[in-house]
Amino acid sequence: MTEIEASNYSVYIGKGIAKELNRFFRLNKNKYSKLFILVDENTLKCCYPQLVEQVDVFKEAEIIEIESGEESKNIEVCSQIWATLSEYGGDRKSMMVNLGGGVITDMGGFISSTFKRGIGFINIPTTLLSQVDASIGGKVGIDLNHLKNEIGLFNNPAAVFVDPVFLSTLDKRQLLSGFAEIIKHALIADADYWKRIVQADFSFLNNFDSLIETSIQIKNKVVLGDPTENNIRKILNFGHTIGHAIETFALEQNNRKQLLHGEAIAVGMICEAYLSNMLCKLTSGELKQITQFILSKYKAVKIDELDFHRLIELMKHDKKNNKGDINFSLLSSIGKCEINKAAKPDLIKESLNYYKEQSKLFK
Ligand SMILES: NC(=O)c1ccc[n+]([C@@H]2O[C@H](COP(=O)([O-])OP(=O)(O)OC[C@H]3O[C@@H](n4cnc5c(N)ncnc54)[C@H](O)[C@@H]3O)[C@@H](O)[C@H]2O)c1
Ligand SMILES: [Zn+2]
Repeated sequence: MTEIEASNYSVYIGKGIAKELNRFFRLNKNKYSKLFILVDENTLKCCYPQLVEQVDVFKEAEIIEIESGEESKNIEVCSQIWATLSEYGGDRKSMMVNLGGGVITDMGGFISSTFKRGIGFINIPTTLLSQVDASIGGKVGIDLNHLKNEIGLFNNPAAVFVDPVFLSTLDKRQLLSGFAEIIKHALIADADYWKRIVQADFSFLNNFDSLIETSIQIKNKVVLGDPTENNIRKILNFGHTIGHAIETFALEQNNRKQLLHGEAIAVGMICEAYLSNMLCKLTSGELKQITQFILSKYKAVKIDELDFHRLIELMKHDKKNNKGDINFSLLSSIGKCEINKAAKPDLIKESLNYYKEQSKLFK
């Protein structure tokens, strides 16, 4: 079991987290009155049974179940959960256990941070994406009318418990979605990590364990340097300015099932690598390497030129923007990222066309 120190909490990583969980609850016995566990139907079925067998306090916890998927990450579902917490006698010393993917950890963190002005919560991320990214760093929130993460705040969990064992029930598509954030971590911060990823022989369903820890280390280090994203933390948004617009656009078209977060970010990283080549020092050779590696792992996403205008509009909503410019975090080389790089809409459209052409070549 590895323990990583985050801001004011620890991240425990390793197989068999039940022991760590029991220890955590033993140490914090008097701090919490009542326990709630937030799950969706999949984590209730695939993850909860293994834990409840081994973690004593979970036997008396109230289970709150929501429907899986990004469509649940909204204020209506929050309202229902706040009402349930009230109904079941939740008080200021209650604690929420978020057992699930990024939707559960983002929304459970938001609900906890606002219920009775804030109750404690712990994260037990169960998707690759939430293990390497969403469950750490203290960003919690929900979507507003399809605008991703429009409502939210920074608030840290009391602890995070990461067990790769949960990934065994995750399908390949969800694994790949999380893998996009691993690629991002390498590209923005660690050229050696990138080499490790590119050279790894992915029999794909079992090779993630060693990557999880490196990715968490990278994300944690960045967050510690700038917890509320005033400067350096913005590097974690590489691929996300364009990626989020593509993801939101798919949500607007009710096309969620066709596009997962990481799949949208994979497209975003190719487009933003193109911008990095145009506006920053990323070489054409590096751009090619990034493009080919991502396209070899992800199936092409269809983007219509007629939709470019709407995509640019969505990018203007991005929280990183100032005074109407569209701001990016761009690569100066593989393993190095620079923040606050403004790009003009025409160049952004060019980057989307670059993606379209390259993905056709890869069919
Ligand atoms: N807060 C942050 O810093 C941050 C960072 C990245 C992403 N996010 C957010 O995370 C969300 C995406 O997270 P996600 O990809 O984990 O999606 P998700 O939570 O929707 O989970 C994906 C699917 O996997 C299922 N699932 C979860 N664990 C499982 C398991 N062990 N076995 C089988 N099925 C399982 C879920 O029920 C769901 O159907 C987005 O809303 C994104 O905005 C937040
Ligand atoms: Zn992301």
